[in-house]
Amino acid sequence: MRTALITGGNRGLGLETGRQLLARGWRVVLACRDLDAGRAAATSLGAGASARELDVARAVSATALAAALARDGVTLDALVNNAAVSLDGFDARVAERTITTNLFGPVWVTRALAPRVRDGGAVVMVSSGMGELSVLRAPARARVAEPSLDVAAVEALAYDFVAGVGGGRHGKDGWPNNAYSVSKALLNAATRAFAAELGPRLTVNAVCPGWVRTALGGRNAPRDVGEGAASIVATVEASVAPRAASGGFYRDGKAIPW
Ligand SMILES: NC(=O)c1ccc[n+]([C@@H]2O[C@H](COP(=O)([O-])OP(=O)(O)OC[C@H]3O[C@@H](n4cnc5c(N)ncnc54)[C@H](OP(=O)(O)O)[C@@H]3O)[C@@H](O)[C@H]2O)c1
Repeated sequence: MRTALITGGNRGLGLETGRQLLARGWRVVLACRDLDAGRAAATSLGAGASARELDVARAVSATALAAALARDGVTLDALVNNAAVSLDGFDARVAERTITTNLFGPVWVTRALAPRVRDGGAVVMVSSGMGELSVLRAPARARVAEPSLDVAAVEALAYDFVAGVGGGRHGKDGWPNNAYSVSKALLNAATRAFAAELGPRLTVNAVCPGWVRTALGGRNAPRDVGEGAASIVATVEASVAPRAASGGFYRDGKAIPW
């Protein structure tokens, strides 16, 4: 039986992704910042689901989870970095909080948990079409698209964005007034960098669920949560062995442009 750990698994797309993977014969670990909410969510899914504590915005929380999984002998087939926020407003504080949860979170979690993923397993980043390179202007777009970026260079770009918002120069640097879009564009860059760093042992791909009716997506979104999670599940299953392509961006199982 294969095991997936899903961050932000207590509600929304994370919970529904867990439900669909369970139905397809996986075991799922819902990694949640509120362990009680995670336990309730795991109970709602039934046998084969469990909960662990993880606040992705705190690096120490990821290392503590990795230690707990190692202690308990848990090996993963797939790590699904799903947790994210979309905050109201736009200023340096919003930029910093968004980048911390949506970019540094997946980076910290991937660094901590990749050793718990078996050879041939996968890391899947739940990203968004709102992070396509087309949301960026010069010079930010070329800096983010640069194929030789490693993960540390992506993190440096993120600090540069946050500092730019604080200093009022982010527009001149080519960043939009939308921290969520920037966080996902940088998450896509981190996906490419992790694919190079962790391959060929692991595959690393990004997936867009489409615009989905959740707390984050709002009630006007055209997709229901089942349809959005199906897009994530398709990429999770295509990313685990037998060997799959790595370093791609997918929606509904089809490659889409960065
Ligand atoms: N919905 C859409 O239209 C859409 C479109 C494209 C991409 N996405 C992506 O899909 C993913 C899931 O989004 P969703 O629509 O399901 O959002 P959601 O319903 O708002 O759920 C977000 C989840 O992330 C968790 N989370 C937030 N900050 C966290 C932290 N610091 N540590 C641990 N968990 C944290 C939340 O936990 P709490 O309950 O504790 O807050 C919740 O479980 C996100 O990556 C989002 O960017 C969504």
